[in-house]
Amino acid sequence: MSTHNNQFYFFANWKMYLDFNEANILAHAIASEHKQFSANVKMAIFPNALSLYTAGQTLKDVGIAVGGQNVFWEDKGGYTGEISATMYQAAGCDYALVGHSERRHQFHETNHEVRQKMQAVLESGLTPVLCVGETLKEREDGKTEEVVEIQLRSALQDIVWPTDRELIIAYEPVWAISKGAGANEAGKHCDDVEAERVHKMIREFSAGLIKLDPVVLFGGSVRPPTTDYYLRQLNVNGILVGAASTQLESFMGILSNIK
Ligand code: 13P
Repeated sequence: MSTHNNQFYFFANWKMYLDFNEANILAHAIASEHKQFSANVKMAIFPNALSLYTAGQTLKDVGIAVGGQNVFWEDKGGYTGEISATMYQAAGCDYALVGHSERRHQFHETNHEVRQKMQAVLESGLTPVLCVGETLKEREDGKTEEVVEIQLRSALQDIVWPTDRELIIAYEPVWAISKGAGANEAGKHCDDVEAERVHKMIREFSAGLIKLDPVVLFGGSVRPPTTDYYLRQLNVNGILVGAASTQLESFMGILSNIK
């Protein structure tokens, strides 16, 4: 069993796939299926910042939390285009993604910046979802563990962890994430043995840094048929889904495969 406190986690990162109308329409469509939700699945959705508030009102009514996809570490000030963790918190968020690979690799976010964001998120009262994972080149060079350990250590070492906050880490091998504008193209397949190996390492390593048993989520082209394939693994507590969470049919398909 890979539940954490008897729950599986289904977190959905809508990235920049849906505009304001599309995000609100999908939020309503998902909410209207709430009779199919199950108490042992904890859900959170990360819409784009513009649709987060309105979609969040709809989703929270049916027990789905919302979160920000990226935060800035200062609370307020002359930082054109940025949104702080406290602003996300005030807009009704419970979570924030920190260190997503698309931030790290497309926007050159460093481990040091990820650490600053972790700190700001914790101080704002939100729960961070720390994303880690290696690139294809790093994997081919046999550096997966080394890269992930560096990401974990720089984000977590000596951080003061609030007692009311879960430690949630998403393992997202960069090479396994969906590609293309429509995101219909799956990334390379990460097999269950490899996912489990890295999840176990993440659990042990991060529990050594923060004295908590972490929730470890898998992300990388999860689709309805592969949901159970990953969740069956001992150290996979849930999934962080991008592309397949942006359409009602596949969102509900994933949910129905969790039970
Ligand atoms: P996909 O499910 O589209 O591969 O995205 C995974 C991810 O990056 C979630 O944060």
